[in-house]
Formats: sequence, C-alpha cells, structure tokens
Amino acid sequence: MTPNQSRQYGVEIIGSGNGLPAKRLTNADLVKMMDTSEEWIVQRTGIEERRVTDWDNGEKTATLATKALRNAVDDAGIKPGDLDLIIVATMTPNMPTPSVSCLVAADLGCTGIAAIDFNAACSGFVFSISAVHELIKGGMFKTVGLIGADCLTQHIDYSTEGRTASILFGDGASAVILRRTDDLSKGLISHAMHADGGGSDILLIPADKNDHPDPANCLDREVGRVFMNGPAVFKFAVKKFPEVIQETLDLAGLDADQIDHFICHQANARILEAARKRFGLSEEKLRININKYGNTVAASCPLVYNELCTDGSIKPGQRIMFIAFGAGLTWGASLWQL
Ligand code: COA
Repeated sequence: MTPNQSRQYGVEIIGSGNGLPAKRLTNADLVKMMDTSEEWIVQRTGIEERRVTDWDNGEKTATLATKALRNAVDDAGIKPGDLDLIIVATMTPNMPTPSVSCLVAADLGCTGIAAIDFNAACSGFVFSISAVHELIKGGMFKTVGLIGADCLTQHIDYSTEGRTASILFGDGASAVILRRTDDLSKGLISHAMHADGGGSDILLIPADKNDHPDPANCLDREVGRVFMNGPAVFKFAVKKFPEVIQETLDLAGLDADQIDHFICHQANARILEAARKRFGLSEEKLRININKYGNTVAASCPLVYNELCTDGSIKPGQRIMFIAFGAGLTWGASLWQL
C-alpha cells in the first residue's frame, strides 16, 4: 500500500487475545528447586505463580504468539487475511532467524504480508504500539496484529544461585488488533520512548563471558542466563516509572485523574504500588495481575489490557496509558484515546 501523504487516519484497537502456556510454576514449586520461601517471594514481588512453556517439545515463543494473535483476530471479528502487517515485540525469538513474526504469519496463512520483530525488552510492546500507530495513521498499513511474546524462562537458572531473577519471570503472549478508522478522535494522544545503553550492565543475558559485567569472574552457568542487579533495577524502575507517566501526561496536557486506566508493565507489585501512591490512583485504575503470571516481559502490558477488556473495565471513549520499563535500559509510555 502506498502511504497517503495527503490525509491522516485515526487508529482504533478492535480486539485482543492471549496465548499462555498451560504449565504453571508456583512459589511452592520453586521452594522445591532452590533456597527460598513462598512468603519471601510474595512479600518482595507479589507473584504467586507463572506460566512456563514446554520448549523442548516445541512450545516456543511463536507458538504462544500465534495463539494470541488467532484469539485477537477472532475477538476483533476479522480474518487473518485482513491483516497487512504482523509485529511481534520479543527478546526471546525461537531462533535468531526467521523472526517470530514470520513464523506467526506462516502459521496463520498470511503469506506475503509484512512481518517484523521489535526488541526493546520489557518496553517492546509499548514502543511498538506507538510505532504501529504512526504506520497506520500515515496510510502505510490498514490492519495490524501486534503481539507481545516472550519466553524468558529459557534463560533462567533455577538453582539457589539464580534465585534473585528466577522467581520473577514467566512465559506468555498477548496480542491486539489495530485498525485504521476515519474517526480522527481515536488513537495516540502522546507518547514517550527512552533508552540508555549505559545501564545495560544491570540487566542482561550474556551471550558469552565477555558480555558479563565481570568477565573474569563469570561462571559457565551464567552464560545465556539472566543477570540482574535486583536493587539497581528496582531503583531505576521506581524513579523512571512515575517520571515517564508524568512526561506523557504533560505532553498531552492532561492530569492523572483524566486517565481511565494505567496499563503498566508487571515487574514487581511494590513498584506498581509506589506508582499508585504517587499519583493517588485507585486499584481499578492501575490493575495488578503479576500474581498470576509474574513478569512476562513484552507480553506483560497486553495481558493486563486483555484482562481489562474481558471483564468489561475498558469501555469505548476512555483514555488509557500503557507504561513499561526494562533491559537496555528502556522505558516509555503510550497514551491512547479509545
Ligand atoms: N528467596 C530468598 N531470599 C532471596 C531471594 C529469594 N528468591 N533472592 C534474594 N534473596 C536474598 C538475597 O540473597 C539477600 O540476602 P542477604 O541479605 O543475606 O545477602 C536478600 O534476599 C536481599 O536481597 P536483595 O537482592 O537486596 O533483595 P531485594 O529486596 O532487592 O529484592 C528483588 C529482590 C529482585 C525482588 C528486587 O530487587 C526487585 O524486584 N528488583 C527489580 C527487578 C525487576 O523489576 N526486574 C525486571 C525489570 S523489567
């Protein structure tokens, strides 16, 4: 399709759907695998259980992403053939190439359409939804399937040595369908996207020992596994999370009480509670579902969005803000008029 420079379009979110693995990993399961306790995990993170893929038997990121997009397409009342672009936000593709989006397109029979993966770690979905908005608004694409999908448990050390990171993460995928509309009132109101590679050493997956912040002391078992300086990431998140919300509100000229839902990356319930307090938000306005899924990286925000849609909390005409932060370091927000 040729971009139409002469006019612009509104953008609406017309459907959503999840793709979650069936297998659950509870805190009680973790207690059997490492030196930890159910109380410690719940108190420090708010997490009760997470989902885990059966990777060795072929249940991988693309499996979950395909399931999520199929459910979102059904929810939107369209057909896979109506999509002209599939984007997957992920940092855990099945393999370096082909992309997850190409695998999803093939699974859904969407031969010949555009397919791209975006990697901004936990901020991937939030960065992508702002970018997709611009692609549709300018006329380049009409109906886009955007999926956040990650399987970080492939990169987790479930021994006591890895317990700081392993308790946090779970696998999952969740998708939305975005479509062009002639109603110009619908779409992005404001956004913020930030990155600081100078902070890459506090949250990473080293591909070899040279990537590790302390190469000389990097152990074999740490290669390919999540390395996280928990307190440093916590400090970064508690600072940037409210900052980026305020920045996005200021750009829109709106106050927090004019936003109906803050759809936040689920990294730690304590970080979310701090943001709730800072902006005086009710539990209805800032949903926390980390207890069920843990931190699902790029799938985290759309999983909350889907939950709010499914239980009827999200209604046409509302204003919603997606917010995330993560490795890179990256952080951003995307404010929408539905
Ligand atoms: N079970 C029991 N004890 C644990 C543990 C676990 N799973 N993990 C760490 N500990 C211990 C530590 O060994 C340490 O013991 P010590 O005092 O004897 O040395 C103690 O608990 C405190 O460790 P610390 O890392 O300072 O804990 P914390 O209060 O910072 O909590 C996190 C750890 C990971 C929950 C917290 O730092 C966090 O949430 N950080 C942000 C992580 C995040 O959001 N990452 C994703 C970003 S997208």
